[in-house]
Amino acid sequence: MKKKITIIIGGGIAAYKSLELIRFLQSENFEIIPVLTKSASNFITSLSISAISKNKVYSDLFDLNDETEMGHIQLSRVSELLVVAPATANLISKFANGIADDLATTLVLATDKKVLLAPSMNVRMWNHPATKENILKLKQFGFELIGPNSGEMACGEFGLGRMAEPIEIKNQILSSLKNKNLSNKKILITSGATIERIDPVRYISNDSSGIQGTSIANALIRKGAEVIFVTGKSTYEKPLGAKIINVESAREMYDAVFKNGPYNVAICAAAVSDWYVDNKNSKKIKKSFLKSPQISLKENPDILSDISKSKNRPELVIGFAAETDDLIKNAKSKLNQKGCDIIVANKIDNKSSVFGNLENKVSIISNDKTVHWPKMSKAEIGEKLSDLIENH
Ligand SMILES: Cc1cc2nc3c(=O)[nH]c(=O)nc-3n(C[C@H](O)[C@H](O)[C@H](O)COP(=O)(O)O)c2cc1C
Repeated sequence: MKKKITIIIGGGIAAYKSLELIRFLQSENFEIIPVLTKSASNFITSLSISAISKNKVYSDLFDLNDETEMGHIQLSRVSELLVVAPATANLISKFANGIADDLATTLVLATDKKVLLAPSMNVRMWNHPATKENILKLKQFGFELIGPNSGEMACGEFGLGRMAEPIEIKNQILSSLKNKNLSNKKILITSGATIERIDPVRYISNDSSGIQGTSIANALIRKGAEVIFVTGKSTYEKPLGAKIINVESAREMYDAVFKNGPYNVAICAAAVSDWYVDNKNSKKIKKSFLKSPQISLKENPDILSDISKSKNRPELVIGFAAETDDLIKNAKSKLNQKGCDIIVANKIDNKSSVFGNLENKVSIISNDKTVHWPKMSKAEIGEKLSDLIENH
């Protein structure tokens, strides 16, 4: 049986190019399931799409015949991949905000498959802060993008906004479907911030949001890995499809990590407290005007170091370093001290620059080299790290 790809055609001037894309994919032996938005039918007819794809064209969410033949949820899952080409500014905005008010948007919200967007719009629409924010959000949700390219537009303006060429989209689809090479790998990710209780109402913690850990987990799950996600306090959503283990303190995280192994790969992205409160109070400490309470700290066990030196050491151990100064020097010395293979180093300039931010700038440090990645979304960092693990 042929593998299926769903192509959602949005109401943009580049809609006609989707016909060529369908032909390219058919020549690669894919069956195409075409979906047309209402606006798209002003640019291209169902008849031509149906004739080229040799398939029924879906466009109405409330078409009862479709619902009995194949329900909209089933339709969102029958393909290997959903491709939106052209992805209009309107569709992008709806996807980013979870809107499901027609067939195309409902399919994208309901799917359990990867979604590839090929944006196409006027340069001002593309550069609008609303679109920029939507695109960042979608990358964070794990959507893949191709283009847009730069060039002359149908409206006579020039700039970024032209849809990628059908041949480029086809090549991206092929490589996207090929990348599922981690299906036999068990991967640990620690994420979020640990909490060390002082008393029942007070604790020591940090600003880690868990965004980076979740982004890495999402990328690895898309490549078929079995992900064990051990997470402390986090303000971000947990990765769908991972085994989630919620913990509070560093010692709980340590126990969960070693109880659920061994792993093929370990990624220690959590911000773990170096110390715990040795004289934790079982009752709320009352304010006294005579003296302030004394907090006594003891060192926590070191997850990264112990997993790197363990008997069942993973083939690859990746740690994270957040440093306020001497980033590379400190990260290199962490690499040596802990005995891990790679340190992902990021500089903490001020609180808002890394913690809770959707973007980051990191350096990848191993024994033989240091590579500086440009600033990018944490989703892209997750994607690149998953490629690095796949190629290891
Ligand atoms: C002639 C014409 C060309 C258009 N081209 C585009 C385009 O290339 N990209 C885009 O985002 N919107 C474009 N629009 C606007 C969309 O058609 C409009 O936002 C519509 O609501 C999109 O619907 P859909 O996203 O459900 O397909 C165009 C409109 C017209 C009238």
